[in-house]
Amino acid sequence: MQFFIDTGDVDEIREAQSLGILDGVTTNPSLIARTGRTHKEVIVEICEIVDGPVSVEVNAEDYEGMLAEAEEFVTWGDNAIIKVPLTKDGLKACKALTDRGVGVNVTLCFSANQALLAAKAGATYISPFVGRLDDIGQDGMNLIAEIVEVYANYPWIDTQILVASVRHPMHVHQSAQLGADVATLPFKVIDQMFKHPLTDIGLAKFAADAKKVPTS
Ligand code: G3P
Repeated sequence: MQFFIDTGDVDEIREAQSLGILDGVTTNPSLIARTGRTHKEVIVEICEIVDGPVSVEVNAEDYEGMLAEAEEFVTWGDNAIIKVPLTKDGLKACKALTDRGVGVNVTLCFSANQALLAAKAGATYISPFVGRLDDIGQDGMNLIAEIVEVYANYPWIDTQILVASVRHPMHVHQSAQLGADVATLPFKVIDQMFKHPLTDIGLAKFAADAKKVPTS
């Protein structure tokens, strides 16, 4: 399973990169707005930090506007890929871009049918939002299970399932059990995944016992 980080904060990205577990980055307009920097400035810096794909989301809602933005975004870094919403225009743009060899992440997916449409449009990644489904009383992880099952029925589908809107480590654990290809994680979740109270207790005991070992 690959881990992407879901942020526009370059300090978080540098720290995750230093841990050796980072495969890529996803951004969206809300995350970019939080940085207080220009979209281009942030993405150019992120593309220099990481080797893996960096999802850059379009702001336009129409097909022509999305393609025009995509044309500029791919000049911001060799590893920039384009993130489009799961709308008719978004999937038209997805098809046009993937036909040209540009990687596309289709975002705002909330159903297996939407995921199937994105696969038909040649999406490199489909991003189902688990946390936002949980927020409205639906089971986000059930959507991942459904997409895994549907995609497995059709060998021609090579769209990767990128679990998004991840809120806690159980989302990651369950995504891995289901065989999702990627999870994009807020830095907080990466941090939480390292922690276990028995690791801390065990480390403290080893450190205490190490002091009892004669040095000569
Ligand atoms: O980047 C898309 C997705 O991960 C956003 O998550 O927490 O805003 O629902 P969230």
